[in-house]
Amino acid sequence: MSKKIATYLLLAVFILSLGLVGCGKQTNSSTAKVLRVGAETTFPPFEFQDETSKEYTGFDMDLARAIGKQMGYEVQIQNIGFDGLIPALDAGTIDMAASAMTITDERAKKVNFSQPYYKSGLSIVVKSSNAVINGFKDLEGKRIAVQIGTTGAEAAHKIKNAQVREFNSSSEAYIELKNNGVDAVVNDLPVNAYYLTKSGDKDAKLVSEVANSEYYGLATAKKNTELNEKVNKALDELKKNGEYEKIYIKWFGKKPE
Ligand code: ARG
Repeated sequence: MSKKIATYLLLAVFILSLGLVGCGKQTNSSTAKVLRVGAETTFPPFEFQDETSKEYTGFDMDLARAIGKQMGYEVQIQNIGFDGLIPALDAGTIDMAASAMTITDERAKKVNFSQPYYKSGLSIVVKSSNAVINGFKDLEGKRIAVQIGTTGAEAAHKIKNAQVREFNSSSEAYIELKNNGVDAVVNDLPVNAYYLTKSGDKDAKLVSEVANSEYYGLATAKKNTELNEKVNKALDELKKNGEYEKIYIKWFGKKPE
């Protein structure tokens, strides 16, 4: 090979490699970044599986997809036990938890929370025939079903002499009430309310007292502060452009508080 040809070849390789570097910077669907979102998906209307399409749906799922889109990420949703979400963030197997997760001081030591995106609170479901449980003080010494690792579980454990039964999903807790295995279910108010309207369970009712105010946040790994900032920015944008309100109205039939 003559020296001249070799120089041309080298030059050609150099120019080609420049072109490739340029391509890598372009964003197109084949190079879309992926946001792995974890949720415990038996928690309607926040996260649940659509019966026909089998897709994960609900307020959080719509919000997570909108946030991903806003940030230029493709969203992939994984079903993970509620008590496994923070460990999954820690281990880096998911990037974000969108699972109606209440912002608590305890959890905030382990993960970063976004700004609050939903105001909630704890409430009680009992059998329609139950005339003795009318508030949290009446739960003393009673049998209570809760979902494992939740703020509902934590609250139930603080009640004097209560026998607390923990289930992997809130649907199992409602079944336990139906079967008279417990006297009450303690769970997030919107989930209790949704269960009572959607299931058509006439055998159960909501106790009017709501224990507290809780705020849900989107959780990301403690070390990934950059992602938390991006999520907050995307939330701000969705609040400004009306998308957040649209999703809220779709699931709750009213404007956000
Ligand atoms: N808000 C409650 C908590 O943070 C319950 C959340 C349960 N979420 C779920 N997707 N199962 O403890």
